[in-house]
Amino acid sequence: MPSPKDVYIAVIGAGGVGKCFLSQLEGLSKRLSASPRSPKISLIFVSRSKKVHYSQNYTALSYGDLATSLDKSSQEPLALPKIIEFLAAAPAKVVLVDNTSSQDVADSYPSFLSNGISIVTPNKKAFSGSYKLWQDIFASAAESGAKVYHESSVGAGLPVISTLKDLVETGDEVTKIEGVFSGTMSFLFNSFAPTEGSGGKWSAEVKKAKELGYTEPDPRDDLNGLDVARKLTILARLAGLQVESPTSFPVQSLIPKELESVASGDEFLQKLPEFDSQMEETKVAAEKEGKVVRFVGSIDVAKKEVKVGLEKFDRSHPIAALKGSDNIISFYTKRYGANPLIIQGAGAGGEVTAMGVTGDLIKVLERLS
Ligand SMILES: NC(=O)c1ccc[n+]([C@@H]2O[C@H](COP(=O)([O-])OP(=O)(O)OC[C@H]3O[C@@H](n4cnc5c(N)ncnc54)[C@H](OP(=O)(O)O)[C@@H]3O)[C@@H](O)[C@H]2O)c1
Repeated sequence: MPSPKDVYIAVIGAGGVGKCFLSQLEGLSKRLSASPRSPKISLIFVSRSKKVHYSQNYTALSYGDLATSLDKSSQEPLALPKIIEFLAAAPAKVVLVDNTSSQDVADSYPSFLSNGISIVTPNKKAFSGSYKLWQDIFASAAESGAKVYHESSVGAGLPVISTLKDLVETGDEVTKIEGVFSGTMSFLFNSFAPTEGSGGKWSAEVKKAKELGYTEPDPRDDLNGLDVARKLTILARLAGLQVESPTSFPVQSLIPKELESVASGDEFLQKLPEFDSQMEETKVAAEKEGKVVRFVGSIDVAKKEVKVGLEKFDRSHPIAALKGSDNIISFYTKRYGANPLIIQGAGAGGEVTAMGVTGDLIKVLERLS
């Protein structure tokens, strides 16, 4: 029989972030088991899109051969309602860790939460989808007492969401949030329009970013601005704005109209040099003012305005001076006055993203025990 303090962990998604998370979970589990007052955590379920490995009688799975056990598992994959049924019947509290970017899994959060299953996740889909889903998630959690944390859904492991929640919950007045929210866009603009030197041609920088693994397989999935719009939706909602969806405010796409419907990412990259003059003009216009161009998101809380797109910044501005693929997020508030509270650092990568997820899990464990 599990003790009332024990917690079962179920993990959906074992890709870049999921693998790092499972390794961090093993370390956390060892550290907790060394302390008699801490809860015991047992991994009981792990799945990928077509594979599942779980313990039908809720005994702990072994971490040692987890990847192989999942690969070789012949257990029949469970549909989401069956996963909820299985976890809801567990003889201890359960935390679901969603390491996918699946909309279907995100749409099921209210059901998981209504069944008392807490959630931690880096998946943006649930919190940046329809406003109704957002309301359903937090209403279900409030009703059942289950917890839901999603620090890594904005800025990966950077403490962006926890900071914003602290500002709001302690009664500060957040007036504006502004920043570079995409590692891909950060890398692209830091090399296309550096604060020193002239930078390369736009299409060459996009190609280089793809070769170095900074973009999605089809770079248009980064250049359309939707990923940044999703992050802005989450922050705007936490700041108290009722944003309907990530397409309900102005989002500037950097995909030339003519290339929106070309069949593949490769064809897009092949044709992109024909449109270099558009981005070059923007860069030169900024340079004439002694500035550089950056792809930013901003939320003006008082005016209830959210927008995503290109802006010009003085070369000495913290947003202009960003390096590599770092993110930067500035919170302007009444308490902080003219100098914003700034969070900066790696906004992507398996280990740092998983750290945000593991940190959230620790918070949930503290609140459940
Ligand atoms: N990578 C980063 O730097 C980063 C930063 C911040 C946030 N995030 C977020 O973290 C999440 C994971 O990112 P990632 O880079 O790890 O993605 P990934 O490498 O593509 O891994 C996704 C995993 O989810 C599994 N999966 C997808 N749909 C599923 C479903 N319906 N049921 C079960 N498993 C499913 C995939 O299964 P298969 O193995 O079978 O394909 C894969 O194991 C995403 O929401 C992403 O936006 C990532």
